[in-house]
Amino acid sequence: MPMIQWTQEFTTGVEAIDNDHKVLISLINQLGEAIRSGEPQPTVRRVLDELVEYTSYHFNREEALMEACRYPDLEAHRRTHTTLKVQVADIRDRYARHPEAVHAREILALLKNWLSAHIMGRDKLYAPFMAAKREEVRAAADSFTSRTAGSAPAIAAQQHLAAVQP
Ligand SMILES: [Fe+2]
Ligand SMILES: [Fe+2]
Repeated sequence: MPMIQWTQEFTTGVEAIDNDHKVLISLINQLGEAIRSGEPQPTVRRVLDELVEYTSYHFNREEALMEACRYPDLEAHRRTHTTLKVQVADIRDRYARHPEAVHAREILALLKNWLSAHIMGRDKLYAPFMAAKREEVRAAADSFTSRTAGSAPAIAAQQHLAAVQP
C-alpha cells in the first residue's frame, strides 16, 4: 500500500504544480516500497537521486509561477525550498556513504512530513494569488515546460504520471 495517497486536500488548482506534487508523492512511495521490500542499495540510491533531482525541478517551476503572479511571500517560500533541498540531498548523500546508518523509517517520516506539511501548509497559500493571475501563470508554466522539455525530470514526470493517473 502506498505511504501517501493523493487526495483533493493536496490540490493547489494549478495543474502543472499538482502534477509535480503527484510525481513527488509517487517517488516517495517508490522509495518506501524499495526500502520495505529490501531492494538492493543501488535501486534505493537511484530513487533518492531521482527525488533530489525532481525536488529541485519542481521548486524551480513553482518559483517561476510565483514570480509570474507576483506572490508577495515569494522570498520566504524560496528559503523554505532551499532548506528542503538541502535536507533531501543530505539524506541522499548519507545513504550513499553509509546506507546502514540511515534508517528507513527516519527517511520516510521526514519526507512524508515535509512533503505533506509543505504542500498543505505553504504551497496552498499561493493558490488564490495564482487564481487571480491565471493568464500570467499559464504563460509562465508554458514557458517553463518548453525550457525544460527533454530534460531528465521532464521525461520522468511523464512516466510517473502515466503510472498514477487513471
Ligand atoms: Fe510544491
Ligand atoms: Fe513550495
